[in-house]
Amino acid sequence: GKGEYDHFMLKEIHEQPVSLSQAIEGRVDPARGRIALEEFGPATFEGVESVQLIACGTSYHAALYGSLALNRAGVRARALLANEYSVGAPPVDENTLVIAVSQSGETADTLNALRQASAEGAATLTVTNVVGSTAARVADETLFIRAGPEIGVAATKTFSSQAVMLVLLAQRIADDVRGGPGADLESLLTELSRMPAAIDDLLSSTNARSIARRYEGCQSYFFIGRGLGFPVALEGALKFKEITYDHAEGFASGELKHGPLALVTPETPVFAVFTGTEDEKTLKNAEEAQTRGAPVIAVCPDGHRAVDVADAHLEIPDTDSMLAGLFANVQLQLVSYHAARLLERPIDKPRNLAKSVTVE
Ligand code: M6R
Repeated sequence: GKGEYDHFMLKEIHEQPVSLSQAIEGRVDPARGRIALEEFGPATFEGVESVQLIACGTSYHAALYGSLALNRAGVRARALLANEYSVGAPPVDENTLVIAVSQSGETADTLNALRQASAEGAATLTVTNVVGSTAARVADETLFIRAGPEIGVAATKTFSSQAVMLVLLAQRIADDVRGGPGADLESLLTELSRMPAAIDDLLSSTNARSIARRYEGCQSYFFIGRGLGFPVALEGALKFKEITYDHAEGFASGELKHGPLALVTPETPVFAVFTGTEDEKTLKNAEEAQTRGAPVIAVCPDGHRAVDVADAHLEIPDTDSMLAGLFANVQLQLVSYHAARLLERPIDKPRNLAKSVTVE
């Protein structure tokens, strides 16, 4: 049941410290700077030349996050919408690893793309939450995110776990391709092992409810981010639109001036996600919106330059840039939740949506 919470979504947001602990349990060893993904034999990914990540919706945002982690680790990767795969997939061969990211493991679009990739000779892997799911049976390899059941239609805890597992998997693939562990893994693994407690702190100190109240009734809600902040901006907007029914849109920060800026008014709050990568540029983009009257809500650590510029602040801890966006995402989940609550929306079961989309 929902226990002390009014909605499953809020319960699941609050479960993230536990679900993330479960995800990384036994899989990271910060002291030795090692990742242990025992489900894959030694050198499983040795021959991988490029990676395609396929998924839909929130899982696509996690896939985008994963593709950036892979690129940063020196592995060629791109994220693709599973429902576009049959009409425009880049060619694959036996040195292509295709990773299907699916919470349920039952999404028809994702399964179709996975089967296509497999038939065309790619190696396949699925990152899923559900043991015994179709994706787990179809793919050559499986990585379970161990988030526990998610009841709310809006994916929350499973996004965090997918992203974290893809960050780990990216390091492991890069290690196998290189033939040895990369440098600087220690700091990432240390921050990762601190993440559950840090999310706990964020959940107990968040001002997301007052932000939701302050910007209630606006015309549109924009979310911007760059690098790993971009998938977080897309996810922030998806969550917002699906449970509040208000218009929301996520953009790469730098894209704002290439068109969407025409929509910006005092009635369009802009949530700007700062992850520690080229933050000056993102701040400049946010200021361009602010100049047109839009309130800017900076999602960044305390003491960040953006705090002085912005109209409001959602705080995240100062952490590894690979993980910062995931804290920002938790703050944005909470803003969406509280905004939907003020509007008295049926948060756990938004109109027209289903938890698992098993039709094409
Ligand atoms: O089960 P999957 O992860 O394959 O589902 C894909 C999407 O339908 C899903 O992520 C959807 O976008 C979310 N429930 C939205 O919150």
